[in-house]
Amino acid sequence: MKRIVVTGGAGFIGANFVHHLVAHTDAKVVVLDKLTYAASREALAELPAGRVQLVVGDVAEAADVEPAVADADAVVHFAAESHNDNSLDDPTPFVRTNLVGTFTLLEAVRRHGVRFHHVSTDEVYGDLELHDPIRFTEESPYLPSSPYSASKAGSDHLVRAWVRSFGVAATLSNCSNNYGPWQHVEKFIPRQITNVLDGGRPKLYGAGMNVRDWIHASDHSSAVLKVLQEGRIGETYLIGADGERNNLEVVRTILRLLGRPEDDFDHVTDRAGHDLRYAIDATKLRTELGWRPTFADFEAGLAETITWYRDHETWWRPAKAATESAYSRRGQ
Ligand code: NAD
Ligand code: TYD
Repeated sequence: MKRIVVTGGAGFIGANFVHHLVAHTDAKVVVLDKLTYAASREALAELPAGRVQLVVGDVAEAADVEPAVADADAVVHFAAESHNDNSLDDPTPFVRTNLVGTFTLLEAVRRHGVRFHHVSTDEVYGDLELHDPIRFTEESPYLPSSPYSASKAGSDHLVRAWVRSFGVAATLSNCSNNYGPWQHVEKFIPRQITNVLDGGRPKLYGAGMNVRDWIHASDHSSAVLKVLQEGRIGETYLIGADGERNNLEVVRTILRLLGRPEDDFDHVTDRAGHDLRYAIDATKLRTELGWRPTFADFEAGLAETITWYRDHETWWRPAKAATESAYSRRGQ
């Protein structure tokens, strides 16, 4: 694959993936990104201009998609509206970008016979009980809870239908919660790190018992590349790194790593429809494709991420105040 289009490549995971592609392949990368509030040109700034080109465009606009896809060998589709809380405030852009955007890309790759990889989330499967050993597998039923996860679930169904009905050469992956550099301060881990760096207190929804299965964005990236290169067409691969923690444990760890008392946080209004627990069984990816995560130790990855946010205040500072006022309007 000589020319790879990465949609949403200026966002958190997309940018991490572009860095991974530059380091581990010889491909030329075209980032197709609308540059919404969640995007960052800076995340791509240090990459060689000869390897990475940024095209500003909307995946839901055929006129933007067509020229980028026409001469590509593959499209890796990260572009999305990605934050559950925003989808509760206004689902409109979620339906447009996540559903119409995926549809528009599928039509373009169908026309041009281009390989497609669809990046999705484990949230399409709904949630699990807190104290149940069961984890999501590729056979878990779809049961999304929020406008965000419902729009991602719909996009997965579109991809499968285009494989079966039109023979599009697509794979899918559904990953658990990511953390790492370049994640927007609206998300749980960067919000709490930057609150503490600012001398404030972490904000825990409800009792903080909800469990997420954390994976470093660089491990997500290596898994997506593995599926792109070696995955079987039409197949779905779940991506996770055995990183289950409840939110209270994560907040306490952040406070401890930053030298603050572990009970120095606030409980705030819970999220409507808040999913209890996500957990991934990545056996298929590990056994079929031989993938392994590098960040096996969540606490070490978290410590590295804290250092990154400490060193990159000029990057996150401009978004912080507006993000916090949006949260305080919701009582969060
Ligand atoms: P993000 O919000 O940080 O970045 C999304 C990127 O998509 C931004 O650069 C934005 O400008 C771009 N974008 C949005 N709408 C667009 C449009 N209409 N046209 C072109 N570009 C557009 O998101 P993220 O956390 O990096 O997530 C990337 C993908 O990974 C999403 O598909 C998400 O569903 C999936 N995912 C995320 C996680 C997670 O923990 N964040 C976990 C599993 C899967
Ligand atoms: P988030 O990063 O929004 O990811 P997702 O909703 O996709 O899982 O939230 C992760 C968890 O953290 C989720 O259970 C909600 C919770 N949360 C808080 O407790 N406080 C916060 O300030 C935020 C943003 C999230």
